[in-house]
Amino acid sequence: MSLSFLILSSTIRSSTYKTIKSVVGGMERLDVFSRCLLNLVRWNRRMDRDINLLIYMSHLEEQKVLIIPISDKIDSIQNEIDSTHILLDILSSPKEYNAEYNDKSFEQLLNDLAIDSAIFYLTPEGLFIDEQKEFLQTNHSLCFVLGSQHDLTEEQERQMSAVNYIPISLGDKNYLASHVITIVCNHLSYLNDT
Ligand SMILES: C[S@@+](CC[C@H](N)C(=O)[O-])C[C@H]1O[C@@H](n2cnc3c(N)ncnc32)[C@H](O)[C@@H]1O
Repeated sequence: MSLSFLILSSTIRSSTYKTIKSVVGGMERLDVFSRCLLNLVRWNRRMDRDINLLIYMSHLEEQKVLIIPISDKIDSIQNEIDSTHILLDILSSPKEYNAEYNDKSFEQLLNDLAIDSAIFYLTPEGLFIDEQKEFLQTNHSLCFVLGSQHDLTEEQERQMSAVNYIPISLGDKNYLASHVITIVCNHLSYLNDT
């Protein structure tokens, strides 16, 4: 059973020179993703699923996805500094972590994912997650799409309709992307136990 989180970023670049100091200073808002990576590594220790972090780089000069399997290779991550170090390493040497870049449009990526995954779009305007219990339990592979420091643009929301997706809400509050991951994983682990 696979579980993927597809997070869009218009700021992350694949080949710019970045250091821990520049990331902590907010460069390309990579900090958002190092927190997501840290949370996913922690959930990977508790859940029996193949977890992937998919970063879609929507910057005009990028238009690519970086697929990061949350595997034993990155299980040493204990805190945000570790996850920032590893993320910088993955961006420059993806193969060492079984990660890969794929050049494709967001729409094409969605179409490819929809072949074997149910797609959920995380938005406060969606259907309440508690009411999707059956669908979340029965689907083999799940992919949750969410924004990073920004929501999806209107154009990206329009492109979402290329696939049959279910809009999912976690309530009225606006959560950080890393918190959204934790809430969804917590929900799924509860479903597995029932
Ligand atoms: C930090 S938020 C994006 C910016 C934020 N909406 C703002 O106003 O500053 C990150 C993403 O998490 C998801 N999200 C946040 N709160 C949510 C909620 N209550 N229900 C579902 N998804 C949520 C959305 O996909 C959102 O784009």
